[in-house]
Parts: sequence; structure tokens; C-alpha cells
Amino acid sequence: MAEAGKHTTVLLQEAVEALALKPDGIYVDGTFGRGGHSRLILERLGKNGRLIAFDRDPAACAVGRSFGDERFCMVHSSYSRLQEVLRQLNIDQIDGVLLDLGVSSPQLEDATRGFSFSMEGPLDMRMDTTEGQTAAQWLASASEVQLEEVIKEYGEERFAKQIARAIVKARARQPLVTTGQLAAIVAAAIPARAREPKQNPATRTFQAIRIYLNQELERLSLALPQCVEMLKTGGRLVVISFHSLEDRIVKRFIREGANPDKLPKHLPLRADEVRRFSRANLQMVGKVVRPGVAEVECNPRARSAVMRVAERINTT
Ligand SMILES: C[S@@+](CC[C@H](N)C(=O)[O-])C[C@H]1O[C@@H](n2cnc3c(N)ncnc32)[C@H](O)[C@@H]1O
Repeated sequence: MAEAGKHTTVLLQEAVEALALKPDGIYVDGTFGRGGHSRLILERLGKNGRLIAFDRDPAACAVGRSFGDERFCMVHSSYSRLQEVLRQLNIDQIDGVLLDLGVSSPQLEDATRGFSFSMEGPLDMRMDTTEGQTAAQWLASASEVQLEEVIKEYGEERFAKQIARAIVKARARQPLVTTGQLAAIVAAAIPARAREPKQNPATRTFQAIRIYLNQELERLSLALPQCVEMLKTGGRLVVISFHSLEDRIVKRFIREGANPDKLPKHLPLRADEVRRFSRANLQMVGKVVRPGVAEVECNPRARSAVMRVAERINTT
């Protein structure tokens, strides 16, 4: 099936404003998607500004490559290689970076990508279709314990044990290769009385497998320190998360950057302690931002979005 192609950008104005763009600055959009944020950033940059966009998905990169804007560079890479890629581009410092995490609507709506339990397709689920194992390959080889751990940890699924057992039983009969097969196995493993209203029983399991296969949390944890390292003093880090596990990583990272060690009760501090307690390299900017009612009404996918903003400060 052809890609539906459209992605409604979440917190578009808010995220771009949070970057506090300088017309001649160098910015990174770590998650290009269909370029909603990138387009607005380019609109607001001056002729000497630059925008480097990353995406792991070749289909997203193809859209970026069609931009035809000299100030813009599209890179097919995970944002977890941020520092390495920027160095290759001879960029030592940046003025801001945006990460709009998770999957895009075109990825979800393209049945051939296998992200959606509601569309029959191959069990793929890779964001980067040029590398790594597919969901079908993983489901064929993972142990029951591993299946349970992944479904429980990344899906926060109460019935992970039952689902893992059902997958192992089903794959002994025939290989699991389609989204429909997996969705049916998961639905049958969850007791009807325990199903959440308005939620497909396979939601959490599909999400867990996607997060695990694409190493989404590990890549985020690898990228955040690199973003801060590359930011100039006053540069902004803007992250939009859609999942509590992602948001927890971002929240802790900003908190630790802003407040690396709690001040000890005894004062005055010794010289070595002063150095230790002034390692802060980030400052939180404003409060957590969530989409308003109007945005969620127009774009229900926005309902779980949480945006956090931090500014790079000088380490003293
Ligand atoms: C929510 S969409 C971004 C939408 C985009 N802001 C827009 O307005 O069109 C997330 C995108 O990030 C990409 N992505 C996810 N993890 C990534 C990673 N580690 N490195 C680079 N891109 C990633 C996905 O392929 C997807 O295209």
C-alpha cells in the first residue's frame, strides 16, 4: 500500500518558538519525519542560517532531499550519532536542537511497515528499513522470558507473561509473519474483562516491540549528552515525548544537568566541593508544555505529547 504521506506536526509553533531561533544560527532537527518543524525553522532562519536534519527512515529522508534549500542538509542517520555526523560536516557547535520522538503518521499508516495492529501487513516495524532485524525475525527467535521482559518493560503490559506464552505456542504451529496474526494472538491472550475500553488489546505489545527493536530509549539516552555537548552557551534543547518512559529519561537528564549534585548541609564548602557543585550545564526553560484542547481535537495523536525545554549554560 502506498504511504498516506501526511504527518500533522505536534506543537509546531511552540517547539520552534522554544528554540529561540537566531537568524544566522545552526540548528538540528533530529527527527525530520515529514519536515513540519523543519519547514517552519527554515522559514524563520535568515539566509546564513543552517538546518541539519536527521531521520533513520529512508522514506523521510527522501522527502527532505527534495527540499532544494541551500541552508538545509538531510542526513540518513540516527540522531544518536549526532556528534559524529556534525563533525563530519565541520560543525563544532550548534544553536539549538529539536527531537520530536516516536513514529510519524506516514510510518503508522503504511501497512507495509508493520507498525499498525489495525492494518494487515508484514511484521517489520523497523524505522530504518536498511538495517536490523524485523519484528518477524525477532518473534521467531526470542526466548519466552525475553518476550515477556520486552512486552512488560516497554509496553507496561500487565499480561506480558500470558502474551509471551501465547506467542511461543503459536509460533510452534506456524511462523508469525503478519501484523494480523500477532494482533489476534495478543487479543486472545488478554482476558476480555481486563481489556481497556477504547484501546485495541494489541496496542501495548506493538508499542513494546517497536521500542525494543528500534532501541528507541537507548538511542535517546545516547543522544541527549551529545546534544548538550554540541550546544553553544544559550543554545536550546527541545524534546517532545509521546511515552512516559521517554519523558522520564528527558526529565531526569535535564534535572541532572541543571542540578548535578545536591548541596551538602554543611557550609561553607571546600574548594573541591565548590567545583563539584558548579558542574551544572543546563537550565530548565519554562514549564512542561502539553498540546491544548484545540490541537488534540484536530490531531488526537497529540494527546500524549509532552515538551521539555532546556538551555545550555556555561559550566563554571
Ligand atoms: C514524530 S516523527 C517527527 C515528525 C516531524 N517533527 C514533522 O513535523 O514532520 C518522528 C520521526 O523521527 C524518526 N526517528 C525516530 N527515532 C529516530 C532516531 N533515533 N534517529 C533519527 N530519526 C529517528 C522517525 O523515523 C520519524 O520519522
